[in-house]
Amino acid sequence: MQSTHQHDVLILGSGAAGLTLALQLDPGISVAVISKRELAEGSTLYAQGGISAVMDRGDTVDSHVRDTLKAGAGLCDPRVVRLVVEDGPRAIRWLLDQGVNFTRDDSATDAGGYHLTREGGHTHRRVVHAADATGHAVETTLEAQVRARPNVALFEHHIAVDLITAHKLGQAQQRCLGAYILDRETGRVETFTARCVVLATGGANKVYLYTSNPDVSTGDGIAMAWRAGCRIANMEFMQFHPTCLYHPKAKSFLVTEALRGEGARLLLPDGSRFMPRFDARAELAPRDIVARAIDHEMKRLGSECVYLDISHRPPEFVREHFPTIYARCLEFGIDITREPIPVVPAAHYTCGGVLVDHQARTDVPGLYASGEVAYTGLHGANRMASNSLLECLVYSRLAARDISAALSQPAAPCEVPPWDESRVTQADEEVVVSHNWDEVRRFMWDYVGIVRSNKRLQRAKRRVDLLRQEIIEYYGTFRVTNDLLELRNLVEVADLIIQSALRRRESRGLHYTLDFPQKDPTQRSPTVLIPDAYVPRARS
Ligand code: FAD
Ligand code: SIN
Repeated sequence: MQSTHQHDVLILGSGAAGLTLALQLDPGISVAVISKRELAEGSTLYAQGGISAVMDRGDTVDSHVRDTLKAGAGLCDPRVVRLVVEDGPRAIRWLLDQGVNFTRDDSATDAGGYHLTREGGHTHRRVVHAADATGHAVETTLEAQVRARPNVALFEHHIAVDLITAHKLGQAQQRCLGAYILDRETGRVETFTARCVVLATGGANKVYLYTSNPDVSTGDGIAMAWRAGCRIANMEFMQFHPTCLYHPKAKSFLVTEALRGEGARLLLPDGSRFMPRFDARAELAPRDIVARAIDHEMKRLGSECVYLDISHRPPEFVREHFPTIYARCLEFGIDITREPIPVVPAAHYTCGGVLVDHQARTDVPGLYASGEVAYTGLHGANRMASNSLLECLVYSRLAARDISAALSQPAAPCEVPPWDESRVTQADEEVVVSHNWDEVRRFMWDYVGIVRSNKRLQRAKRRVDLLRQEIIEYYGTFRVTNDLLELRNLVEVADLIIQSALRRRESRGLHYTLDFPQKDPTQRSPTVLIPDAYVPRARS
């Protein structure tokens, strides 16, 4: 027997974007929050550096805007950058009101008594943080708040399969009506209907073999939105974080950029510094430049990693500011107060995503997107460090405002059919799924990584086309599982990245190709992909 759930608002995802949205809605609104694993699991939980906001009297909104535009290499939407940056201090105050304990520095009277750190691209100290575990402080605080809200129903270990839209049901007027959701524990697909649906499903960085992200970052929201008829923008701009711990047992462990902000230097295996050769800002150049420089040096020397050294700073300072990294590295026998840390770049952040307007509305009426899943125009060709959590906070508040207004209008009744399993059977060869998971992540790393070329992209395109065909057949024949759904979405997103990369015939920000190594000043527009199911939205 299938269950049907009905709510005013359905939020897919429970990171900073999803939980902020749930908490910003009026307590009289009935909300469902869906989470693929435990509520707290997602990129937000692992964020280290912090959240950028103009908090210091010596800093200005104009300066934060300028730095963001510069890092974005000419592709940011300046109106969006200003909108987000201006809202930064309010967003931090809201988090403080929720109970987040940011690191204090009583001598920092110009910054309200909060310690501000620095990261690449920022010309000022403006990153508010909770030591080196900012995401943990934010996520667990918001989690506690949301668990105390009687109007919010939480569905952990549930994965959204697909959005339900009026068009898919053959109706003339396009609208999002809800989503089909697999309960991972019972294996049953349930129907959730809502007047407003929000994608807050995070990024797609698991599409690469090596990533700083947790397992949930499989681009589900981007793929679902594409299938539902939403335009997707700037997917060629996948950000690689320069410094993830290089150790066979340290899966996905990031070494924060704030370490470089506090003076850490990048070294070659012979102990020499190399970043000054690549950029005047050296270790504090934006990420695209640092990641490419590391990739270049590793390939040139045939070395497996480079090193990040903060051992010249006093050990107490290092332990106090970076307790998580200190403890984690020590587990692997590396004492960061005495020796350099072996590091490599890894896929970290999805700058592109579901195209939204200034209220976080997508192309499908009733469907919103906030957080890493969305393309707002803030990041352009390269996200500046610590601007991402800020974007989650700002856009979720904007979405909440628009949703509240939408809910005050009368609702049109809708009939949604249950999930149809009559034509599928239990999968007989799970190995197809695990094999294809590995294959897509490896060819994306090898052919669509930090340095690209037309030949590599074409090679990847041929492979992704084959995989898509195989997965469509598999999906149409067998009962859905978590791994199959994630694979289907990963392959969809891989295709969107490759298509976008093939369209951009220049090198800009995070997209670097050997065939067009220069920036072309005429290519100043985002790359927008339009799905078959796209219907232009009526102006409101
Ligand atoms: P997430 O926090 O990733 O949450 C996604 C949610 O969606 C999860 O609850 C997941 O279960 C759910 N979900 C996904 N798919 C489905 C589905 N199909 N069905 C149901 N639920 C689904 N940014 C900064 O600004 N500052 C930092 O210091 C910083 N440090 C970082 C460090 C690390 C290691 C990483 C990985 C990222 C860091 N970032 C940082 C980036 C930032 O953390 C993320 O961009 C941000 O947290 C994304 O939040 P989100 O709510 O959009 O997604
Ligand atoms: C980091 O702490 O280096 C990550 C910051 C970010 O991705 O914004």
